[in-house]
Amino acid sequence: MTNLSATQKNVHSYREQFPALANKAYFNYGGQGPMPQGVMDAMTETQAQIQNIGPFGNEVGRWIGLNVKAAKEAIASDLNVAPTTITLTENVTVGCNIAMWGIEWHSGDHILLSDCEHQGIIAISQEISRRFGVEVTTCPLMDTLNTGDPVEVINQHLRPNTRLVVLSHILWNTGQLLPLDKIAEVCRNNNSQILVDAAQSVGAMPLNLDQLGVDFYAFTGHKWLCGPAGVGGLYVRPQAKASLKPTFVGWRSVILDDRNQPIDWNPDGSQYEVATSDYPLYVGLKEAIAIHQQWGTAEQRYQQICRHSEYLWRKLAALPNVKCLRTSPPECGLVSFQLVNQKPHTTLKLVQFLESERSFIRQIRDPDCVRACVHYFTLESEIDQLVESVQRFSLA
Ligand SMILES: Cc1ncc(COP(=O)(O)O)c(C=O)c1O
Repeated sequence: MTNLSATQKNVHSYREQFPALANKAYFNYGGQGPMPQGVMDAMTETQAQIQNIGPFGNEVGRWIGLNVKAAKEAIASDLNVAPTTITLTENVTVGCNIAMWGIEWHSGDHILLSDCEHQGIIAISQEISRRFGVEVTTCPLMDTLNTGDPVEVINQHLRPNTRLVVLSHILWNTGQLLPLDKIAEVCRNNNSQILVDAAQSVGAMPLNLDQLGVDFYAFTGHKWLCGPAGVGGLYVRPQAKASLKPTFVGWRSVILDDRNQPIDWNPDGSQYEVATSDYPLYVGLKEAIAIHQQWGTAEQRYQQICRHSEYLWRKLAALPNVKCLRTSPPECGLVSFQLVNQKPHTTLKLVQFLESERSFIRQIRDPDCVRACVHYFTLESEIDQLVESVQRFSLA
């Protein structure tokens, strides 16, 4: 089995900037990433600076405005899009809400989801369905993890009245990376818009959203980007903007005249922003992005993530009582697996056992499995520790 240490030369000193990594083997990046000290310091300093200049006044208002702009520029550089296409949100789910409620629904319209979407997104669809008489159906992508073609499955489930397709770039339960460019093309050919839940992809792989051709891409800073909880974003494709109406509206959404009366929507992504926010979070996210970019390009980070997930996948697959959901090496940092002959509650017990041994992974309910996430700065020794603990549990 390939040894990872050659690719991990400076990683020990790099990891020292993440206090959370000092005392545990961490595999929950898909839940929440650990924050670097520099991110926490940047937020504390920003908070102090706001108090020092303001907290409310013309100068501090201008200063905050510059920081909001800088945060959008940092996010946009990571996604390879123009900063004007970015709306700052609180998390993935708020971004999905903006996209889903902003469409002018008509009774009889159709929403297509995959069968691997997050519960929050399912709940939004159900409420839209109830309120507007929109039909929601689900297509089976879970079964295409190892065989089958997700593009074809989606194609078969599109209808003439499908207004919106909602799916994740990386399926959070099985770790499948979907061929989004091909899926976007199939949707475009059907005149259906596509909203992507990017909870597991932003910060975890190189992205060029304009090239992908998706309409809406909702993400967060607190998972793979290791930024603070409470700030995320939504990309809206320029061609999709005219059809997406703001649902929540406030002073940040509009252009004001000299009597402070709203006269038009802001032309950029701030059209979907509302009002006062916790601005130091934006600075924290910008700092987190800068820290990753200093380590290497998005492509280099992704390659390292894949080396780590393959290493973990191979070690797990070699255990007699463990079954990885994937039958080939993962294409991202998520590795989902089960115990052979597991009973109900086994996965929860495994997660609890591992946490008691200071290894952090999570339980997934559908399919019944556990999920370990590796980042580019995960250690070979962390993976070895996890696998060794899993083995002991599986043999007990
Ligand atoms: C695929 C997916 N979508 C949505 C979410 C919810 O994210 P947030 O709390 O940022 O809205 C998660 C969180 O784990 C997720 O994995």
